[in-house]
Amino acid sequence: MVLITFLVVGCTGKEVKETSQKKDMKLITDEEKPYIGFLIDTLKEERWYKDKALFEEQVKSLGGEVKTLAANGLDDVQIKQAELLIGEGVDVLVVVPHDATISAKIVEMAHEAGIKVISYDRLIKDADVDYYISFDNEKVGELQASEILKKTSSGNFAYIGGSESDNNAILFRQGAMKVLQPQIDSGKIKLVYDEYTEEWKPDVAKSNMKNALSKNGNKIDAVIAANDGTAGGVIESLASVGLAGKVPVSGQDAELEGVRRIVKGVQTMTVYKSINQLATESAELAVKVAKSEEVKTEKTINNGKSDIPSIFLEPIAITQDNIRDTIIKDGYLTEEEIYK
Ligand code: GAL
Repeated sequence: MVLITFLVVGCTGKEVKETSQKKDMKLITDEEKPYIGFLIDTLKEERWYKDKALFEEQVKSLGGEVKTLAANGLDDVQIKQAELLIGEGVDVLVVVPHDATISAKIVEMAHEAGIKVISYDRLIKDADVDYYISFDNEKVGELQASEILKKTSSGNFAYIGGSESDNNAILFRQGAMKVLQPQIDSGKIKLVYDEYTEEWKPDVAKSNMKNALSKNGNKIDAVIAANDGTAGGVIESLASVGLAGKVPVSGQDAELEGVRRIVKGVQTMTVYKSINQLATESAELAVKVAKSEEVKTEKTINNGKSDIPSIFLEPIAITQDNIRDTIIKDGYLTEEEIYK
């Protein structure tokens, strides 16, 4: 017994303590395996459960270990969780930031510990993020506005955006306005209401829509809502004045309730983003980065600090006509749960 201990003592007391502590801290991982930390903002919206499950599954199938922590929309909690995973010796951090700018702190801390950071779905701004992977978020907004314009191309329009702390919400709105602006400039469309929705909350979207209706004598002809959660709130308000199904409303995320509303005809469209593709490509990227492999990307995006190497996936507009060829075909949702 003495001999072995001595050998161990060979190195400095402190190193032994550290190594054994790190070993203790990383008990869930095998030293050789890439250890990925996945920091997500929230599990409030349906899609994030899919992101978590699919990303973890993919990392494990690539021989890695993964730990996911959700911050419930709280910045200080997300930063604490980053500290924890950095302390646990993760090889790379994959982050869905709650706040685009506050989360820059996470990149700073990770880089101090020699750990790279991948921004997942939402961009971290004003920091030297190592990689960004998401969908073409401006195109999401373009698809939303284009589908609504197919239903009505004149009158009073309301824009019910996402959470302003989420850079995606800014990009969705930019894309929608790119499509609407010519109609606004020609005077065919009047944008009578235009608000972001705190924390993407459906209830806040519902009360914002109530304001929009009361401020315009219920004369609203179309609504661009940024995701299915906010669309649900909007449609509740429209229903309260007998306008549900009469006013076209957009959405995003292909949530079950959103797709059911499209089948019922009270929601016009949603945007399907293959979370399977996002999680798979992100896991591949994370494992490569954890193994210090250099990954070249075709695209970059400027986040206010630098041009971040980026991967952008294609969003798909969903209406009553293509639900089976897309969402059901991909197994994202089933025929049974949508149409029963
Ligand atoms: C966005 C995301 C959307 C939506 C929203 C609310 O960043 O891209 O898919 O779900 O967050 O969580």
